[in-house]
Amino acid sequence: MDSRPIGVFDSGVGGLTALRELRRILPGERFVYFGDTGRVPYGPKGRETILRYARQDVAFLRAFDPKAIVIACGTVSANALGELTAENDLPIFGVVEPAVQAAVRATRNRKVGLIGTAASIRSGAYEKALAEIDPAVTVTAKACPLFVPLVENGRFRPGDKMAELAVEEYLTPVKAAGVDTLVLGCTHYPLLAELIGRFMGPEVTLIDTGAACADAAAKALGEMDLLGDAQVGELRCFVSDAPQDFAVLADLFLGETVEGAVERVEIEKY
Ligand code: DGL
Repeated sequence: MDSRPIGVFDSGVGGLTALRELRRILPGERFVYFGDTGRVPYGPKGRETILRYARQDVAFLRAFDPKAIVIACGTVSANALGELTAENDLPIFGVVEPAVQAAVRATRNRKVGLIGTAASIRSGAYEKALAEIDPAVTVTAKACPLFVPLVENGRFRPGDKMAELAVEEYLTPVKAAGVDTLVLGCTHYPLLAELIGRFMGPEVTLIDTGAACADAAAKALGEMDLLGDAQVGELRCFVSDAPQDFAVLADLFLGETVEGAVERVEIEKY
């Protein structure tokens, strides 16, 4: 039994897809969420920069004495999980492994599509994890660099012409490859799931990496006897840019009001 909080971070609003699932499964837990909205997107940046940002994000969350940290970001998970795990003496959960496990469970024709940020696709982390679980799976990967800025700007709703055009352009080759499962390898992408699902068709299973990671983290924390026993949970949110825009998207996406509970942090100090 452990009543300390769980730290969750992402470059922006994308990690809310993991947080929503965590709050649903573990309603009595305390969560501290950090969205690095002042430096988003991470996806086009080089590995060294991503690692530096991720170390600062973890250092900030560690000030709350968390019992575990969830990297609710595909880009950081794919590029920095090894270093962050080695440098910190607490459980750190990433999204790659749980997403890949879910994809292997879902696929029937063993043709899996993978979309993510440029840095995630370049890392090869998802393909490597897939090959370890089932070498017979073929992967069609595509970087979708415009998806994160679209989501951060609230441009993800059906009928949004710009978002629809981006979905069509990026996903045409993935659809043509005949995949029956598509890993949304970035935690921002589930916000585009309706558009992506419509384009890919009902026969393609979409894997939500944030939700898969949340399920895996919750299960592992239970096995490690690290869950709390409070009836009512708690959520504190921090961002590195103006809290307002984040709060609007967070309210919408989490289905709960975080406004007033979002604080700004000088992340470069960490
Ligand atoms: N949510 C992050 C991910 O899962 C977005 C990365 C970015 O900021 O470009 O990859």
